[in-house]
Amino acid sequence: MKSKILEILKARDGYVSGQELSEYFQVSRTAVWKAVARLKEEGYQIESVQKKGYRLVASPDVVLAEEIQSILKTRWAAREICYLKTVDSTNRYAKKKAEEGAPHGALVVAEEQTQGKGRMGRNWSDPAGQNIAMTLILRPAIQPQSASMVTLVAGLSVARALKTLCGLDVKIKWPNDVVAGGRKLCGILSEMSAEMSGIHYLVIGIGINVNTEHFPEELRDKATSLYLETGEKMQRARIIAACMEYFEEDFSLFEKTMDLSLLKDQYEALLINKDEKVKVLERDASYVGIAKGIDWEGELLVEKEDGSLTRVYAGEVSVRGVYGYT
Ligand code: BTN
Repeated sequence: MKSKILEILKARDGYVSGQELSEYFQVSRTAVWKAVARLKEEGYQIESVQKKGYRLVASPDVVLAEEIQSILKTRWAAREICYLKTVDSTNRYAKKKAEEGAPHGALVVAEEQTQGKGRMGRNWSDPAGQNIAMTLILRPAIQPQSASMVTLVAGLSVARALKTLCGLDVKIKWPNDVVAGGRKLCGILSEMSAEMSGIHYLVIGIGINVNTEHFPEELRDKATSLYLETGEKMQRARIIAACMEYFEEDFSLFEKTMDLSLLKDQYEALLINKDEKVKVLERDASYVGIAKGIDWEGELLVEKEDGSLTRVYAGEVSVRGVYGYT
């Protein structure tokens, strides 16, 4: 009821009477009053005026399930949300939820992560209340070797959402870092439970730097936030909702062909190093080439200096521009 009240208050410019709400929900006016009181405790500024009713004055920057759901326009993505004030890692928690049967599209969101996981065994730092740490649980009918494509789909969806919402020149650094101004805005870590014949579930962990004002010295030339790029603080729930909406759209195109053929053009239009020199860093070797784009499986096509074309698989490889992080 709380999230529906919020949705109704958001849709209405003026007041909504307690009577109208109690009739809508078929509950007493006291029950409505209690739900509104809980919203106020969560930081919503709601004006209550006798004989007029309730009016939403301002929403706090929170990532509570009801805040996200009150603005979300998806069919299945994030229709079920699990909100945590603090957690070690939303990926770890999402895997547990998936083992317990959480449905396709369920989303785990945390206000703070204490042991966030990054790619290649790195840490991902997430102080409370500034950024987005979320993990989407998926149960796609695909082979395990196709899972990395879904990670690229997620990178594309986040990039499109941030570009539209913030008007920023957002790019993708293959395979799925989202960058702005040459620095990283978002990282994605996918993990799966699978056997040879198919995937039990896939968790797509997305970390977006939203309102961070300062990064530690060692990250300053590599990381950025939406705040640092735009000079404006953003409501994180709006960003989460937009990411889910774009993901649902992009994932449905992926599902049509079970590859990236219908998304390749959009992805390449945002690919930061397209037609530029990149350095491919393998576990114990590296080489330089020109990034030509991606194939339908999401592998990066790199033209080596001898003119041959190699396909770089996302696994344990990282790709840099020849000058610095991107
Ligand atoms: C990277 O190294 O670029 C990937 C970073 C992924 C971080 C996100 S934050 C939400 C989710 N939970 C985790 O523990 N990691 C991912």
